[in-house]
Amino acid sequence: MAHIKISPSILSADFSRLGSEIQNLEKANADLIHIDVMDGHFVPNITIGPEVISKLRKYTSLPFDVHLMISPVHDFIKNFAEAGADIITIHPEATNNLKSSIEKIKSFNKKAGVSLNPETSTDKILPVLNLIDLALIMSVNPGFGGQKFMEETLKKVKILRNEIDSKKLKTLIEIDGGINFQNAKKARESGVDIIVSGTTVFKENGGNLKKNIQLLRTG
Ligand code: DX5
Ligand code: ZN
Repeated sequence: MAHIKISPSILSADFSRLGSEIQNLEKANADLIHIDVMDGHFVPNITIGPEVISKLRKYTSLPFDVHLMISPVHDFIKNFAEAGADIITIHPEATNNLKSSIEKIKSFNKKAGVSLNPETSTDKILPVLNLIDLALIMSVNPGFGGQKFMEETLKKVKILRNEIDSKKLKTLIEIDGGINFQNAKKARESGVDIIVSGTTVFKENGGNLKKNIQLLRTG
């Protein structure tokens, strides 16, 4: 199996000292930094916006994996691109024209991702799979960390894995929500390339980031 990347979600970090939390994640061998942006409208929670992301940019050279849970998303893509996002992931429900929003992300030379909620079918992503860099499968309903993993979402991972491999696409598959050491193994076996984790990375083993990242990768 290829090297699995870990993208810790800073949603579970201490928001009063995000800069040092991100530095600690880099020291603990994280591959990316997952940043959950929520607007209190698309999801029932509010987090941070482009201003905070731009201030965090200097704390690491790891890619910023920015998960936008905001609607309508299209006109904000520029702000997140300029703030220093490397991957910008959007939900199909949050835009009137998915292809044009993907093109907009790419026009800033950023990697484009599309995310599927647990109840959203893979039919929404298959027509654009060849245009995007990342398919993000939500394994909880977006909005909060610490929720229970929905195992049935792994079926969608397998569908996408088959499609990507059979068409020899380069699109990466990322899973997000409720990942622990047990289901991380199932996610890896189902064919994910990137695992997002907030609670497990920051809270397990007394908050030993390095150990938790290593266990999610290989344990
Ligand atoms: C949920 C977010 C996730 C979340 C993951 O809306 O998209 O990235 O922070 O946190 P855990 O790992 O605690 O489920
Ligand atoms: Zn996320």
